Amino acid sequence: MASTDLPDVRPIDPEQCDEVWPLSIEAGWNQNVADWRFMLGAGRGFGCTAPDGTWQASSLILPLGQKLAWISMVLVTKERRRGGVGTGLLKRCIDEVRAADAVAGLDATEQGRPIYLPLGFRDLYPIARWHFDGLKSEAVAPPAGVTVRPITPADLPRLAVYDRPLTGMERPSILMHLALRQPGRAWLAEDMGDKIVGFVLGREGRTATSLGPVVADREPIALSLISRAAAAAPGPFIIDVPEAHQAVRAWLQEQGATSPRGYMRMTLGTAKGLDDPSHVFALAGPELG
Ligand SMILES: CC(C)(COP(=O)(O)OP(=O)(O)OC[C@H]1O[C@@H](n2cnc3c(N)ncnc32)[C@H](O)[C@@H]1OP(=O)(O)O)[C@@H](O)C(=O)NCCC(=O)NCCS
Repeated sequence: MASTDLPDVRPIDPEQCDEVWPLSIEAGWNQNVADWRFMLGAGRGFGCTAPDGTWQASSLILPLGQKLAWISMVLVTKERRRGGVGTGLLKRCIDEVRAADAVAGLDATEQGRPIYLPLGFRDLYPIARWHFDGLKSEAVAPPAGVTVRPITPADLPRLAVYDRPLTGMERPSILMHLALRQPGRAWLAEDMGDKIVGFVLGREGRTATSLGPVVADREPIALSLISRAAAAAPGPFIIDVPEAHQAVRAWLQEQGATSPRGYMRMTLGTAKGLDDPSHVFALAGPELG
């Protein structure tokens, strides 16, 4: 089906965040209205409505720099599934990303991956979604020579410069939004020379506090940041960790965390650095990259 075969695709305005939010609630997802408002303002949303104007499907494109765009919030209400709507919206997003000469990336759920594979998306790496209520052990101390402190607005330009080569994403506005929205969940790790060696951000959600992104030079630094953020914020928590990070996985299991589902990071095309999770210890979320 070509994207134009979907007769009722229309843009979703940021002012419509309240009306489109029920789609992610029906799917059991954690986004709140503030998430929808931010994503629709920073990116572009498309969806379909029933004749009475109720949203039945959504999709979103979030630019992560000139060369990469994140596709997310691909949601179709149960009553409208298996009719080609998900595929149609995806094709519409892909057309837009290609027109901007960018590469499309996304984190696919088990339900989403079957529609992305035939469209040419390829797997990069698997990610586990963990749920936990709170810390069962002492917060992990940072390694020798590393200090952890709250992030201040003055740190944000340096944070974006640190983040970009380690994640392959150019996302200063996302980092700024998260750091300013929930300052109590934003922590910075520095070495003795005040060089950034890691950070964690987080946000409140519909059902849980989301921890991430976590980007760090090394796994012990990431662990100290995650545990510091979890000690400072109300649970329950969710965190999306690339499966490559075994020490983070073991620590989460010690906290009683369970992983009911996972994602596959996928791209359509090649984006430098995006296939390497070695410094990405937690996603900002599948909807934010
Ligand atoms: C994933 C989702 C968006 C698919 O929407 P949809 O409108 O049903 O998708 P389509 O009708 O375009 O499906 C296209 C094809 O994908 C495959 N497919 C879709 N859903 C599938 C499923 N649950 N299992 C296996 N194959 C599936 C089928 O081949 C289907 O074609 P067919 O119906 O002719 O067999 C929808 O199931 C949904 O909202 N799920 C919950 C939220 C979610 O996980 N979103 C994905 C985020 S990455």
